[in-house]
Amino acid sequence: MSITERDLNHFGETNAAKDKLLEVRNLKTYYPIKGGFFRRTIGQVKAVDDISFEIKKGETLGLVGESGCGKSTAGRTILRLLNATSGQIIFDGKDITNVRGKELRQARKDFQMVFQDPYASLNPMQMIGDVISEPFKNFGYKNKKEIKEEVMNLLNRVGLPEDAYYKYAHEFSGGQRQRIGIARALALKPKLIVADEPVSALDVSVQSQVLNLLKELQSDFDLTYLFIAHNLSVVKHMSDRIGVMYLGNLVELADKNAIYDEPLHPYTQALISAIPEPDPKRKRERIVLTGDLPSPANPPTGCPFHTRCPVAKPECSEVKPTFKEVKPGHKVACLLY
Ligand SMILES: Nc1ncnc2c1ncn2[C@@H]1O[C@H](COP(=O)(O)OP(=O)(O)O)[C@@H](O)[C@H]1O
Ligand SMILES: [Mg+2]
Repeated sequence: MSITERDLNHFGETNAAKDKLLEVRNLKTYYPIKGGFFRRTIGQVKAVDDISFEIKKGETLGLVGESGCGKSTAGRTILRLLNATSGQIIFDGKDITNVRGKELRQARKDFQMVFQDPYASLNPMQMIGDVISEPFKNFGYKNKKEIKEEVMNLLNRVGLPEDAYYKYAHEFSGGQRQRIGIARALALKPKLIVADEPVSALDVSVQSQVLNLLKELQSDFDLTYLFIAHNLSVVKHMSDRIGVMYLGNLVELADKNAIYDEPLHPYTQALISAIPEPDPKRKRERIVLTGDLPSPANPPTGCPFHTRCPVAKPECSEVKPTFKEVKPGHKVACLLY
């Protein structure tokens, strides 16, 4: 059978129409700071402070940045585990920012989270079979035999033996527990998975096995990933495009090769310069950032990075740069461009 021009056109059309799975517009998530005798709100931690991006169907978008820059908060807000302070989350063409009740439950079927610490997210008193059955039961699946079959399939699919069904979380290694977490996330065939540092807590020797599993599952289950990590090599391995966060802001977003080979933002340049380069001929100069990471409760005026930026100009402390496209598909928030 040959692919006709009509088929190709058909592909083109459907791809254009269904391109975007997730769109995040000007998203902010602030945590209140309570204080005083009456526990009044006396301030705000601006954990996510106006980020915008989109993820295409089947794509993996990596999100990197130092600890505390707001990656987890962003991921949790997108999955509606936290409420947005403002902005919009458009999932599969529907604004889910403020949906509640039944609508929220329905939306939740389509997105799942894989957590950093699989042990903390697994109930130690529950048999693994029950852990993975739970999503089915929560969504009204009744037939016990069918559920069990599905769970066995999932165990198999993530590389665990069938007798794992009858065991408890403490009987597994870290890597196996993460496989259990992944099986549970896959149960309802979600469209989007937010993987929040899914291998950071694992031994280096098993990290790549779990990453490879996530990659295999992506094509088998037609998954789209938001992949959060602070390790740039891990993100490079997994992502199609990469977004760099600093102090609640997205400072750069581009194709992964552009991020590694021609980073534009001084913060991204510093991050990339810190990756060990195995080829001595390509040795780069390491840019060491001075000063502490400012507090998101009291972020600097102007560009959030100006207090540590090696090339800051006087106006950087006054004008907040907009996040704009400076090359095709390459966005950066910096007054230099
Ligand atoms: N529940 C919370 N209450 C108040 N502040 C929080 C809470 N969770 C996180 N933060 C703060 O929000 C900022 C972003 O945190 P987080 O999203 O966990 O960053 P990351 O995942 O990039 O390490 C940090 O300054 C953190 O201390
Ligand atoms: Mg985090």
